[in-house]
Amino acid sequence: MLYDNHGRKINYVRLAVTDRCNLRCYYCMPENGIVYMKRKDLLSFEEMERLMRIFSELGISKLRITGGEPFVRKGIMEFLEKMSAIPKIEQIHITTNGSFTKDYVRQLENLNVHSINLSLDSLDRQRFLDITRRDMFDTVMETFHELLKSSIRVKINMVVMEGRNIDDIRPMLELTRDHDVSVRFIEEMPFNGSGGNPTFWPMKKILDYVRQQYPDIEKLPDPEASTSQNYQIPGYTGSFGIIAAYTRTFCGTCNRIRITPQGTLKTCLYDNGGLSFRDILRSGASDEEIAQTLIKAMGRRYKDGFEAEKDRGASSPVSESMATIGG
Ligand code: GTP
Ligand code: 5AD
Ligand code: SF4
Repeated sequence: MLYDNHGRKINYVRLAVTDRCNLRCYYCMPENGIVYMKRKDLLSFEEMERLMRIFSELGISKLRITGGEPFVRKGIMEFLEKMSAIPKIEQIHITTNGSFTKDYVRQLENLNVHSINLSLDSLDRQRFLDITRRDMFDTVMETFHELLKSSIRVKINMVVMEGRNIDDIRPMLELTRDHDVSVRFIEEMPFNGSGGNPTFWPMKKILDYVRQQYPDIEKLPDPEASTSQNYQIPGYTGSFGIIAAYTRTFCGTCNRIRITPQGTLKTCLYDNGGLSFRDILRSGASDEEIAQTLIKAMGRRYKDGFEAEKDRGASSPVSESMATIGG
């Protein structure tokens, strides 16, 4: 088992397999001027597989594949097959924008993918286009319905943005009436790659807004180390949650680390990153040396996202795109 210097058990890795994406979500990437990483600077799938095997031996049992958009990277399905063959990885999860996911749903089901979190910020075609700057609404909705037919658990991630999708909160809640889905309303974080802080809706404001319309919402028990505080509208099939990604209320139980597309370890989402597993892998290190490197890094984890942010100093999160971190 892997523990950090604050006594938290670390059993969850978020692996960003690419920094590329076919959408241009306003809160994540600028429309122009994106410089993607060079292929040789990214971890290869072989390098990722080796790293995940070593990490799994140390106690990592939950793996989330993120990006960018994971399905834009060639060979992703073969890679997922390899991941599902690692004995100690008990759960594979994927966070995707759903543009290329639809045709893979059966295969993902066969690979026992545990859950898919679908980024969907609006149920209105025009608002979806305004937010993502790409006309993919129908395709993403088809993916959603295909997922509902499968055995894979589905969550919707909606970043709440003043002036952009507040009118979607209610339709999203209504989606939980008949569908077994969990809709999560997310506080916007300033990782938009272009500067400027979001006009942000804190968790309490989101909850108050929901309560005004549904005064009887019931609190559900939250899973261990959950990012979301979860609720249900009485009589509805699905549920909803709120993720305090910016106010960071859940750091105390944080069980996760991140590997960026170029193989950098982030011990916190707000961490500027430093340790390059890519360089370590390419220097010819043994499995044991790599394992020891991770164990050592867990002895130096930030207490919370505020401490990590403070340590960034001048390197503000607004210059960084979420697509290069993996969310
Ligand atoms: P589940 O495992 O299904 O609960 O998903 P998740 O919430 O861990 O991951 P997902 O990729 O769906 O991310 C949802 C939102 O939570 C995104 O906006 C993430 O950036 C944010 N998030 C995930 N992990 C962290 C974290 O450690 N810290 C902060 N501040 N936000 C996080
Ligand atoms: N703030 C909050 N959430 C974000 N995501 C991407 N950028 C941001 C941001 N600036 C979310 C996406 C995706 C998840 C991995 O992170 O909606 O679902
Ligand atoms: Fe692409 Fe996801 Fe970033 Fe949107 S949030 S631009 S879908 S990587």
